[in-house]
Parts: sequence; C-alpha cells; structure tokens
Amino acid sequence: MDTTESSAVAEGVDALTLTNNAGDAKVDNVLNGVEATEYDGDGDGGDVVDPWNVASSNERGIDYDKLIKRFGSSKIDEELIARLEKIIGKPVHHFIRRGIFFSHRDFHAILTLKEQGKPFYLYTGRGPSSGSLHIGHLIPFYMAKWLQETFDVPLVIQLTDDEKSLWKDLKIEDAIKLAHENAKDIIAIGFDSEKTFIFNDLDFIGKCPAMYQNMIRIQKCVTFNQVKGIFGFGDSDIIGKISFPAVQAAPALSSTFPFIFTGKKPVHCLIPCAIDQDPYFRMTRDVAPRLGYPKCALLHSSFFPALQGAKSKMSASDQNSAVFLTDTPKQIKNKINKYAFSGGRTTVEEHRQLGGNTDVDVAFQLLKFFLEDDAKLEEVRVAYTKGELLTGELKKLAIEVVSPIVEEHQKARKALTDESLAKYFEIRPLKFTH
Ligand code: TRP
Repeated sequence: MDTTESSAVAEGVDALTLTNNAGDAKVDNVLNGVEATEYDGDGDGGDVVDPWNVASSNERGIDYDKLIKRFGSSKIDEELIARLEKIIGKPVHHFIRRGIFFSHRDFHAILTLKEQGKPFYLYTGRGPSSGSLHIGHLIPFYMAKWLQETFDVPLVIQLTDDEKSLWKDLKIEDAIKLAHENAKDIIAIGFDSEKTFIFNDLDFIGKCPAMYQNMIRIQKCVTFNQVKGIFGFGDSDIIGKISFPAVQAAPALSSTFPFIFTGKKPVHCLIPCAIDQDPYFRMTRDVAPRLGYPKCALLHSSFFPALQGAKSKMSASDQNSAVFLTDTPKQIKNKINKYAFSGGRTTVEEHRQLGGNTDVDVAFQLLKFFLEDDAKLEEVRVAYTKGELLTGELKKLAIEVVSPIVEEHQKARKALTDESLAKYFEIRPLKFTH
C-alpha cells in the first residue's frame, strides 16, 4: 500500500467517507454543487479504498460486494460473462472467470459497439513510484493485453510521473527516470508495438497541445469543492494535486491523441484498472458528455493481497510485502515461505483433521491469480480444504507457479533495446481499423 497520504487525509478530512460515498449519481450531485452527504457506514468494518489508501480490518480483505454498492458500479455477473463469451467466441480470461475483475461501468455498451462493428480503444496506466514493479502491478496490464488481443484495438498507457512527483518526495528528473524504468517492465509483458502507445506525462504533455487543451477543458468543468468531495483534498493541499485529476481524465477523451484517432468522431474508451482508481473516472464520466464525449467504460480489479494477508495490498514501498519482478528465485522462495500468510492450522494433526482456509491463505491467492489451469486449481482447493495438502506443500506449489513467471519476465525485460523501447513512445498512428 502506498503510505503517502494526501495532506487532506492527514489533516483529518475524511477522504474515505466522501470518496466511498460517491456513486455516479452522487458524483453528479457533487459536480452540480450539491454537497456529498456523509457515508453512514454499513457494518463493513471500515474498508478503506481510495487512490492513496487501501486497507481492510478483515482477514479476507476488502468486501467487494459492498464496495460495488458504495461506488455505484455494477457487478461482473454470469450474464455479462456469458454475453462476452458469446461475442468473442472463446472463454473469458481467468481473471474475469475467478472474480479478480469483479466490477464494471458500462461494459455492456462496449460489447454492443463490438457487435455493431464500431471502434473503441483501451486506456490504462501506472504511477511510477518505484523502480521495480511487483507481481500485483501486472494485473491490469495482463487484462489490457488480453483485451487488446481479443478485440484487436489500440491501447494507450499513461505513466503519471507528474502525479508521483506531486504526491511523493520525488524530483521531477527522478520521476521521469522511474517512468522509463517502469515502461520496460510494462513492455516486457508483450504488448504489440503497432497497437500500443506509452507516454509519461512529464515528457508527453509538452509535445501534445491536444492533451493540454483537453486538460484545460476538463479543469473548466470541475470546481475545488467538487474535487474535495471526490478526492478529499483540503485547503492546505498543493494546487498541483488539486488540478491533477484532469491529467488522468484527459486520455479517456480520444481527441487527446489526434495522431491515433484521426477522425472527427469521438471514439469510446474502455479502462481496465484497479478499483481504487475509480474516483478519477467517476469525475471523468461526469465531465465527458458535457464536452461532447461518451462516458468511458471501466473494468475494475480487486487488489493483490500483501504476503502478510489480505488486510493490505502488495506495496512497492515494503520489500517483504510483495514478490518483485526483480526478485531472484531464492528470494521468491524465501519470501513466500517466510511471509505468506497461511490459512492452515497450527499443527499437522489439526490441519489433517480440520483442513485449511483458502480464502485467507496467500499462497492459494497466488495460485488463484497466476495458475491458469482451472482443474488444477480446484484440485488444490479441495485438497487444502480437506487437510490433505499441507501449508508447506501449498507454498511449494505457489513458488513453482510464480518463479517461472518472474524469470520469464526478467528475460523479456533484458532483451529490450533502447530502440524497441523508443518505438512505443513515438508519437505516431497506431494500426487501427475505424
Ligand atoms: N494513478 C495511477 C497510479 O497511481 C496511474 C494511472 C494513470 C492509471 N492513468 C491510469 C491507472 C488509468 C489505471 C488507469 O497507479
């Protein structure tokens, strides 16, 4: 979990009660100048989910069904999955099948576009807060890659080095360096360079008047009161933070990229992201129609639990909370064995008798995210629940699944040259039928 808090939060303005309370309807109210009413609590033990903090007091982690209600988004249900599978003619990604991507906004509208042969594009991003990514960071990017391949659409990736230098004690120059380092990790995931554009704000915005113009258009639509309501900013926050949401909103308007979207008609945008980013896009969805654009659609993921358990998420600022993409096989093995929270029992006898709990077991969660084989996963779940499989054995399986993913990633990253990297950043048309 990122430990940096907006000073509004530090000063006791409860960002969460305001943020979590703001479903689309609420944001509309907020943007129309009606104050957000205090969230009255519904017995979820105080889950905290906003762009800067994610925490739960429950060992099972965040209650995602309650979050859907609070945010006013929609559940990715069986019906949506069935419709998606019918349209694409293949099974959905296991992240969707297993509820890791669990919530959406307007995804049905994207599927309708697909049925009508109309275009859309994908947008996702990363705030480069550290030199190395951890495996939890891969999730939205794996989803973006699958969506890109499945729908054959362009993808834009925003690296918010500006955001990180505003929120952290990070020099502009260093934030830019981190963005370039992170880009290597993202490219190593294997995006098609003919259909993918990557940009870091601190370099790109100065080269793209269209983006700056859209930022200003967005800034004209949102007051300080409104961002206070949505993000919990306070009077003592630096003005960079207050205006930043417009920077993250702009790529959801297709005219921000005139070199990609050459037609006059706005193109629909679909954003796969972790649910903590939703406040940005609630704001974006409110503003877009006023500027003549469709509302962006969203696919929301849950968080990858910290090795210590689902009360917090993997964090780049805590070495022991996460498996990093730079870790050696030995480090991965040690970390999982030493830190991965176990849902097993205290003694072997007790475990054999009563069985383990896969819901809270982090080694099992690692398999749920990264073991693609459904049958194998179910086998493990049953064996662990019955007590046939011990914690040590489950951890061994998790290590065997995670290590090769990290190793492959390191190989792919190492193979990247400066030229291959530069290609993704080049301001250019993408291969895109429209
Ligand atoms: N704010 C995000 C972060 O800190 C980065 C980001 C920018 C992003 N644009 C995005 C994430 C679009 C998801 C979708 O990581």
